[in-house]
Amino acid sequence: MKILSIETSCDETAVSVLEGNEHTITVLGNALASQIELHAQYGGVFPALAKRAHAEKFVLLLKEALSESGMLIEGNADLPDLKEQLEFLNEKETTLKEHFLPFFSQYQKPAGVDYIAVTSGPGLEPALWVGINAAKALSTVWDIPLFPINHMEGHVVSAVFQQKNENKFSLHELSYPVLALLVSGGHTELVVSDEPLQYKKIGQTRDDAVGEAFDKVARILGLPYPGGPKISAFAKESREQNLEKFIELPRPMLHSGDYDFSFSGLKTAVLYATQKKELSENDKKSIAQEFEEAAVEVLVSKTAKAIEEFNVQTLLVGGGVANNEWLRAELTRAIKEQYPQVTLLFPTKDLTTDNSVMIGMTLYYQLLHEKNKKTASNILKADGNLSF
Ligand code: KG4
Ligand code: ZN
Repeated sequence: MKILSIETSCDETAVSVLEGNEHTITVLGNALASQIELHAQYGGVFPALAKRAHAEKFVLLLKEALSESGMLIEGNADLPDLKEQLEFLNEKETTLKEHFLPFFSQYQKPAGVDYIAVTSGPGLEPALWVGINAAKALSTVWDIPLFPINHMEGHVVSAVFQQKNENKFSLHELSYPVLALLVSGGHTELVVSDEPLQYKKIGQTRDDAVGEAFDKVARILGLPYPGGPKISAFAKESREQNLEKFIELPRPMLHSGDYDFSFSGLKTAVLYATQKKELSENDKKSIAQEFEEAAVEVLVSKTAKAIEEFNVQTLLVGGGVANNEWLRAELTRAIKEQYPQVTLLFPTKDLTTDNSVMIGMTLYYQLLHEKNKKTASNILKADGNLSF
């Protein structure tokens, strides 16, 4: 079974072609363009700019993914209704339409693509719409069933298929209950599953997402967007050099008794402690270490509490912050020392930040469990706040 998958929920435009065979997925083609440089000057993602960049890049990336899969075949497509079929792009997606008209006329329908999967939320709605409208165009003109995918489920499933070699992933059989810790620039959630495809959110952030806090603290320290990797690198140097503590930060909501988080106070504390001060490189490194350790301590502690309460057998971690080495190390240590019965699964690094492979994987995973058979639909809507 072959799936064409699309992701445009935030600042990555991505298109992939996957082939699923029993419990194995092969990535046949994968193209991704990041808008990081575009948004860096604003210190965060600017929705109108994101939408425009998605629309400008989409068809290019589609061609790249199809070409890598050996599916970009020139040929005189006979499409008498093409203009009519793309009429729905007239008002809001003129760039997509301009690019699609010559594309459909020049290339044949790729043979063997069974389904199209597209992120329908959560995310920035203007950005989501670009992917959805592109998917609708492909689904209509090529007559391929289309399925909406929840981006957060994508982050969960990105850890379910473990990488075997460069482009092959295989399904890891999960023991239930499964707990997913989802940590990204937009979300911080703990989600429990008692069986495949059932998700119950047990806690989330009440203000900033943890990745957002990394980005904001980085900004205060004058470090470039996205701040996560830079803060993490600074924290590591501070640990290695055993730097003196510049600041003591709280562990917000550590003992709140629930599974919710709050990270905006950390950013404010860093802001107050550094105002009107000339910070040396070492001061910044020390602050980065304390911030990273405060954020990770809360994440690990609440995850551990959930493991106990829900008798969790498998822990999945997903989202951009799952890249963080300190989080990986601390979770690994906690599982080894306190919960050796729990299997801990991280996605491969390329699949932690936003990508379309995880969106295609999720549809395949759903189809493996046969739950998505009836919901192919061309009438999709973007839902910025889509939740479990
Ligand atoms: O999942 P993602 O690509 O986008 C969203 O769906 O939000 O996550 C991006 C977030 C950014 O906030 C970025 O700073 C953070 O992930 N991030 C990290 C690291 N790498 C990326 N945070 C901490 N440590 C890292 N190594
Ligand atoms: Zn994401």
